[in-house]
Amino acid sequence: FSAFLMDSFGRRHNYLRISLTEKCNLRCQYCMPQEGVTLTPRSQLLTAEELLMLARLFVREGVNKIRLTGGEPLIRPDVLHIIAELRKLESLKTIAVTTNGMNLTRLLPSLKKAGVDLFNISLDTLVPAKFEFITRRKGFHKVMEGIEKAIEIGYNPVKVNCVVMRGLNEDELIDFVSLTERKPLDVRFIEYMPFDGNRWNFKMMVSYQEMLDCIKQKWPNLEPVPGEETDTAKAFRVPGFRGQLGFITSMSENFCGSCNRLRITADGNLKVCLFGNSEVSLRDFLRSGATEEELLHIIGAAVGRKKKQHAGKNCSWLLSVPLFRGSQRQPLSL
Ligand code: GTP
Ligand code: 5AD
Ligand code: SF4
Repeated sequence: FSAFLMDSFGRRHNYLRISLTEKCNLRCQYCMPQEGVTLTPRSQLLTAEELLMLARLFVREGVNKIRLTGGEPLIRPDVLHIIAELRKLESLKTIAVTTNGMNLTRLLPSLKKAGVDLFNISLDTLVPAKFEFITRRKGFHKVMEGIEKAIEIGYNPVKVNCVVMRGLNEDELIDFVSLTERKPLDVRFIEYMPFDGNRWNFKMMVSYQEMLDCIKQKWPNLEPVPGEETDTAKAFRVPGFRGQLGFITSMSENFCGSCNRLRITADGNLKVCLFGNSEVSLRDFLRSGATEEELLHIIGAAVGRKKKQHAGKNCSWLLSVPLFRGSQRQPLSL
């Protein structure tokens, strides 16, 4: 494994998340303000060729999984071209997409053909009116149709990401788990995280323990499902159910110790941590003619500076860290 992608704590970064665009066709309250975010001028975004050049470099050094994110990755016009080119990289085992599902039904056949292995689809409520409130747009039925179609054409499991917020959707945990009875879904409940301007407050966060207690009241025989050390989610299943559920505990129990992720933002910055504000512009080096070897040294230096963890292990400590509290860049490359 390449020394450039290994940090000073021995973590091997073999999972690269690439944001294809800052734009989104929804305005989820926990992510963006109503008016959207200030977009980086187009000329400063990575072109498909630049992005692919970087992806090839990372894959050559040991990355075997790439996830395309956004904003909403499926609104980028050349998304199919990018995926088809990535698919040509032999040692890239997995191409995954995190999407809000709005354009999924229409694009699924071509995405499958281009080579997507996995979809994570965001859905925070099963109530159409609430969907419109949370996302500030209509589209519930479109997303549900996208999820159904993904299952229909053979994706198994299809992951559903649900950000749980008190007073909004914490009463829907049981309904979401019930979905896994007959469908090969992996529903992941995510602890609500603070970002700049997302109206996060401590009271709205529902912790892993609280969610687990609630689900166990209904299904006391809920059982843990063993996973990979690098999984973001702690997985469980209700015995006899087809799918499973999981909890992404970014707030109450960080999983930094096993982090294998690096990120490239749509404007070409390398982020070694979701919560780190220090970014290095690979785009600028690329555009000033840096060679692959030079780029690798820049990447290696950034990875080498990666911190042990984004903050303490429990929320109260976490919230006393000024960096963490409301000073994050918009999660455009979550
Ligand atoms: P898989 O590859 O299917 O395991 O997906 P994933 O969980 O890595 O990615 P996804 O895009 O579905 O993200 C789901 C949630 O995981 C996001 O809301 C983040 O909260 C969280 N997440 C992903 N990567 C990180 C990370 O590096 N740090 C933290 N704290 N949270 C992360
Ligand atoms: N807290 C937790 N998860 C979030 N996501 C977006 N914003 C937040 C937040 N503030 C989720 C989206 C998507 C995933 C990539 O991150 O719902 O599923
Ligand atoms: Fe768009 Fe995803 Fe942010 Fe919602 S969470 S506004 S779907 S980028």
